[in-house]
Amino acid sequence: MGDEKIVIITGANSGIGRAATYIFAKEGHVVIMACRNLEKSKVVQQEMMKETNNDNVDLMELDISSFASIRQFCSEFKEKYNRLDILIHNAAYFNHGSKFKLSPDNLELTFATNTFGPFVMTESLLEHLKKSNDPRILHASSNIVKHFFDEKRKIDFDKLIGEMDDTKGFSVYKMYSHSKMALVMLTFKMADEYSEHGIKVNALQINGAKMSKDTLKKVSPGWRLVARMQNLFFPPASKMADIYYYLCTSREWNNTTGRNINDKKEIMISSKDNPGIGLQIKQLTSNIFYPNYADKKENQDKLWEMCLEVSKDM
Ligand SMILES: NC(=O)c1ccc[n+]([C@@H]2O[C@H](COP(=O)([O-])OP(=O)(O)OC[C@H]3O[C@@H](n4cnc5c(N)ncnc54)[C@H](OP(=O)(O)O)[C@@H]3O)[C@@H](O)[C@H]2O)c1
Repeated sequence: MGDEKIVIITGANSGIGRAATYIFAKEGHVVIMACRNLEKSKVVQQEMMKETNNDNVDLMELDISSFASIRQFCSEFKEKYNRLDILIHNAAYFNHGSKFKLSPDNLELTFATNTFGPFVMTESLLEHLKKSNDPRILHASSNIVKHFFDEKRKIDFDKLIGEMDDTKGFSVYKMYSHSKMALVMLTFKMADEYSEHGIKVNALQINGAKMSKDTLKKVSPGWRLVARMQNLFFPPASKMADIYYYLCTSREWNNTTGRNINDKKEIMISSKDNPGIGLQIKQLTSNIFYPNYADKKENQDKLWEMCLEVSKDM
């Protein structure tokens, strides 16, 4: 094994995933773009190969919200490649303003895409990760988890399977924040579970990155206006992609696992229960604290159990 890494990036056809594909390919690594829309992604794959002068940019079909698709992807990947060095769970569903939807496996779509899918894919690729001499997994999280500084906020585990009785109060925005919190919890739990195999698992808390026109089209008109305004201030997607690259390849981070990391590449720390007003303000405004809901063992165990339960027949 030389310095060349075998890297899977989900949602690699757009935004941060696309920018990450560029940098990994430019640096001479083998990149597997794991994308659901092959027609659209083929164009990006061709551009990436041309712009980076690297023919090792592969494109493979993956709908991360579907267990059947994950199974198919992983089985083809294992036939083609003998190990996996870096797995970046970048794809996400955040079509704010959309109605309640179910995944092909009867799971609420936001959770299926952002939490259960990454869990199932990682578990399916474990043997290949173990064959790497420096396996690293990175989860794309979001500052939207800040809603959990409100100690009343909880993931409603009972409402993630099957049709909801009443979808009136349903909000993709809320589900997105819960699914990203769940992804941080999975980061901590997976880091523990996989530590004996030397597999490092971390999350990057993204505050914002310029969104493409395609991405803006996915949200409802009200949200689109908000996103357009945010885009005026957000850094380019390539800034976040550079951080993906750094966290997944640099020697400085090769022993770090089970951490939530901010976009200044600082390890974030857990919030305190019942903070005074000063600390509350600091937690909300600084980028150094994450809600300690993520650390609580009972929350992590509940999520882990549910991940195992929903994927047991796949
Ligand atoms: N941009 C921000 O301000 C921001 C802030 C916080 C966190 N993040 C996180 O950063 C990551 C990248 O976001 P981005 O801004 O680069 O968004 P983006 O450009 O919309 O990229 C999202 C990617 O996910 C893919 N995807 C969605 N559902 C999928 C599925 N079921 N199967 C496979 N691929 C799927 C999309 O594919 P299609 O093109 O086929 O839809 C797209 O390639 C996400 O995890 C997001 O939550 C972004």
